[in-house]
Amino acid sequence: MSAADTCGWHETLARDLRTIARYDHSVAIPELGTLFRFEPGTALGRAQRRTAEIYGVPFAYPSTNGTTPLNVLALLTLLRPSDTVLIGRDAHVSVLAPLIHLGLRPVYLTPGYAADLGVPLQITPAQLRAALDAHPEVRAVVLTYPNYFGVAGDLAGCAAVARERGVPLIVDSTHGAHLAFQPDSPDLPPPAERSEAAIVTQSQHKTCGALGQASLALINDPGLIERFYEVVNGTGFVSTSFSSVILASLFESIWRLHREGAALIAERLAMVAWAREAINRIPGLRSFDATDRREGFAAFDPLRLTINVAASGQTGFAVERALQSCGHYPEFATLDTVLCLVTLGTAWEELRGLVRALAAIVAAPPGARVRRPVPRLAAMPPQPRQLLSPREVFYSQRRRRVAVGEAVGGISAETIATYPPGSALIVAGEEVTSEVLDFLREARAQGATLKGASDPDLTTILLVDRD
Ligand SMILES: Cc1ncc(COP(=O)(O)O)c(C=O)c1O
Repeated sequence: MSAADTCGWHETLARDLRTIARYDHSVAIPELGTLFRFEPGTALGRAQRRTAEIYGVPFAYPSTNGTTPLNVLALLTLLRPSDTVLIGRDAHVSVLAPLIHLGLRPVYLTPGYAADLGVPLQITPAQLRAALDAHPEVRAVVLTYPNYFGVAGDLAGCAAVARERGVPLIVDSTHGAHLAFQPDSPDLPPPAERSEAAIVTQSQHKTCGALGQASLALINDPGLIERFYEVVNGTGFVSTSFSSVILASLFESIWRLHREGAALIAERLAMVAWAREAINRIPGLRSFDATDRREGFAAFDPLRLTINVAASGQTGFAVERALQSCGHYPEFATLDTVLCLVTLGTAWEELRGLVRALAAIVAAPPGARVRRPVPRLAAMPPQPRQLLSPREVFYSQRRRRVAVGEAVGGISAETIATYPPGSALIVAGEEVTSEVLDFLREARAQGATLKGASDPDLTTILLVDRD
């Protein structure tokens, strides 16, 4: 490479940075506003107001660090130390973090699993009602809606159950920020913020085209706003140097979807309908849709293109690797499936390329394929008993690493999840059982990533002893 080439790279970089920097205003400019109080007269305050109007809620709080801290702030707003909280077992780790901060007592609810589709379902109102009957001490409910695969439960039904019992509902709708822009569409799940959830969190950076880490908390209960800001100011989860660039992209993505979202989404829905049909014509592949609805699957976001490869004789992991080798990078794979997200930026040619690549991968001669391992994963292991709280585990000095063969009966210091089922199979503080270990080892052998395991191969595991 010549010096001129090198210089060219630097010039390009500097030019791009200068363009971006024009929006990176200092937090010292008072007219711009702040994340630490609501100031209706500032640019940020006006943008918050407009955003709340667009989403149809009383208040909107933006994040420049994704939905992760918003989930923490939401739980800290509604709960007090040692409270009991009911959490869907498919929750993101950010929902589990406040269990440590506040020493909360978790009651977990595990969503069902659709073995024929290869994807997890969602918590049903009947499941929620039974859990609240069994645990009248619950002070808040946290649900994820829709899940990673676009499967949406009966959120209105769950919200009604929570309301009956007078328990506030928090919805992690990370994957549902775009639903508001076609709110009455029979082709998309109803937006979470239309339910009576007290707080809904969403990642606009995932589905609305905003820059990475641009997210929103939508607050349906105005009585929570003051406490929410108290938590923002008191807990240190929001940077005092929050990024104006990310905020600008967040609001710009919302204004754009407000203007053109219905058309943009309709176009992507047509594209993905074509792709789904084409994929379903390829022998060995299946991509489910809303017609597969059932208990725990009330509505569907078709922009989540799950390709079940089980009948092709290959694993989702193998098909994902083959796709990557021809330039297609799926969101992730499971034993049975490959998940591709169709976003506002997806072009027709990319979708056609994906379909062509999939057809070629499954048509490869059997000798050239990575075969599906036998035996298949056993049934889901039962949820282990909770012996210590996540906070007790977190602060315990009595930790030891043991070979997994010696771990049965011990208390896990780790929270480990995998796909399937997408839910944590063991949470810190729970008893290590042979069923959980067998399941995790089998999943690992078949190519799954063990999310949260400190030893990625699970030859050892961290245990904690009672004090
Ligand atoms: C259900 C769920 N909640 C929360 C998050 C965290 O969101 P963010 O990446 O915006 O921090 C994720 C990330 O994938 C998620 O899947």
